[in-house]
Amino acid sequence: MSLYAIGDLHLHFQSQLKAQGQLRDPVWRNHEERFRKNCAAVVRESDTLLLAGDHSWGKNLAECERDLEYIMALPGRKVLLRGNHDMFWDAKKTAALNRQFEGRLFFLQNNYFPYRDCALVGTKGYTFEGPFYLDRRGRVTGWDEKEAVRAEKLVQREAERLRASFEAAKGDGYRRFIMFLHYPPTNILEKRSAFTDMAEEYGAEQVVYAHCHGRARFHDSIEGTLRGVAYRLVSGDYMLWNPARIL
Ligand SMILES: [Fe+2]
Ligand SMILES: [Fe+2]
Repeated sequence: MSLYAIGDLHLHFQSQLKAQGQLRDPVWRNHEERFRKNCAAVVRESDTLLLAGDHSWGKNLAECERDLEYIMALPGRKVLLRGNHDMFWDAKKTAALNRQFEGRLFFLQNNYFPYRDCALVGTKGYTFEGPFYLDRRGRVTGWDEKEAVRAEKLVQREAERLRASFEAAKGDGYRRFIMFLHYPPTNILEKRSAFTDMAEEYGAEQVVYAHCHGRARFHDSIEGTLRGVAYRLVSGDYMLWNPARIL
């Protein structure tokens, strides 16, 4: 019994692909089939596969049907986290999604998923992505203050949702936590954030995140162990469509 994770499948079996990078970069060529084969080779039915957001380009549930069918056909128990592109998933309607897909998909939001003696907790998260102003050497000299204020509000809301997830697990007696975010835990300027603070507060063993695409973005946030927490990026193109073994 193992726990695997990967993010950013960005499926589009019945919707329009909106990212130019996904069209140009060869890493995305036929990625659905490569990921399906890689899963079939390692993930067993008794395993858990956590998909860390950006599942589909569909604008609503009807446009995601075939994408979710593809996910349901993957081996193991599937746990889904919200990504910034998951328009089909209104955070407030997570309970309805969990009822609709009961026994086939689990939607992780303001709740937790049990894995052995661990609780899988998480939320989309948020990080300030600029615009940043750079000098000639590429060093950050400033940033859009208005955007930074807006980002801070979104971070607070996501931090509340993450706390709800931790507390739900804690209330049921869990003391071991693996924490998932879609966004990286910090922005490119930060060494800590509301999310890293919460990981430390609850003693999360690992923080697993996605969202970063392309070589230039893979190292935007924390990697490796910091203040007792292990951080790991699992975006699909970074993983070359191999699910990462977490436990
Ligand atoms: Fe993504
Ligand atoms: Fe994303």
